[in-house]
Amino acid sequence: MPFKMEKTMSTNKKELPSFLQTSLDFYLKDLIKYDDQHLVVGDKPKVGDVVLQSNDYLSLANNTAIRETLKKSVDLCNESILMSAVFVHKDDSKPTLEKQLSSYVNFDNCLLFQSGWSANTSLLQTICTEDVNVYIDFLAHMSLWEGARSGGAKITPFLHNNMRHLEKMIKRNGPGIIIVDSVYSTVGTIAPLVELVAIAKKYNCATVIDESHSLGVYGKHGAGILDELNLSSEVDFMTASLAKTFAYRAGAVWANNNFTQCIPYVGYPAIFSSTMLPYELDVLEKTLHVIQSMDDARSYLFKQSQKLRAGFRDLGITIRSESQIISIETGEEDNTYEVRKYLEKNGVFGSIFCRPATSPKHSIIRFSVNSSLTDAQIDKILSTCYSAIHSEHLYIK
Ligand SMILES: Cc1ncc(COP(=O)(O)O)c(C=O)c1O
Repeated sequence: MPFKMEKTMSTNKKELPSFLQTSLDFYLKDLIKYDDQHLVVGDKPKVGDVVLQSNDYLSLANNTAIRETLKKSVDLCNESILMSAVFVHKDDSKPTLEKQLSSYVNFDNCLLFQSGWSANTSLLQTICTEDVNVYIDFLAHMSLWEGARSGGAKITPFLHNNMRHLEKMIKRNGPGIIIVDSVYSTVGTIAPLVELVAIAKKYNCATVIDESHSLGVYGKHGAGILDELNLSSEVDFMTASLAKTFAYRAGAVWANNNFTQCIPYVGYPAIFSSTMLPYELDVLEKTLHVIQSMDDARSYLFKQSQKLRAGFRDLGITIRSESQIISIETGEEDNTYEVRKYLEKNGVFGSIFCRPATSPKHSIIRFSVNSSLTDAQIDKILSTCYSAIHSEHLYIK
């Protein structure tokens, strides 16, 4: 009998058709095999452990002023708008937050979504139609791939951050849409945006830049890398999840064209998923103001990220990161499991990235640095990794 079959069969209230049960059993056998759990599921951290799993880069999840805004706003909210955003797009009902977000990052306009996933899939499903070439970085976020796929575009991936390869592909296939993350969510590399924009101009391509891990962190008052590089008016679309530095559940698309006027009526998540609620907009507006005032926290975040990257490199560990996202490569899943267990036993928690986020033999453990990380915590991460390699003989690349 296949692994887990007995368990699933015995707890099922109703038997599935065998073709379906077989595929579920395949997933269970393939994925739920580390202490009867998925590889990404680890121990619960204890008080005092170093936990770098959340992308709350400015440590805003427990911000008192933001929480107060939420409480007050929930109490005051008396609108019932549990419906698709298509019904609330009259000019006078547009959230002022959209205007504030567009001027924050220097784009012409902005449209909010329920999540970064919805923002990316709505945008790309709309513009990546069947006759369009799409050039997408191999490490671009899955929501970008999914959006391009659902539009039916001709997708040509290019090697990670390799502008020569991108140019070669464009020369071969013709103009299209170039899609990248500005800061890559797995390994923390940064896209060569100046070069990329020059290539886009040269070959008459459009550009989509996902700033999820850059917004709130880079640029003037956290306005993002595009703003920092003075590129906001040179690219066509920017997107971001607001579940990173904004520490909430939402997403947005920015455009320098009239695209945001039509996307509410074309993108499926915009049409077929319900809109954000008034108190959610209030929280995000408050968060935006708080983020803009946090230059000191951003400087500290850069300093601590730099220290952790340097510390890993001093240990001989290969770090690709250029940002606050710092990952160690643990390779095979079995080894990743052992490293994770050892780190957690010693009070160090990162996030596991394995299939389908990485290729099978290149799993990683990601540390998302935040602005509360102390020097002592950095030392603890480094000394634990050191002993994982030298005392436990575990593989960290
Ligand atoms: C680069 C990037 N884009 C988009 C998303 C999706 O964002 P959300 O979690 O808000 O759906 C993520 C989240 O993992 C991300 O890292």
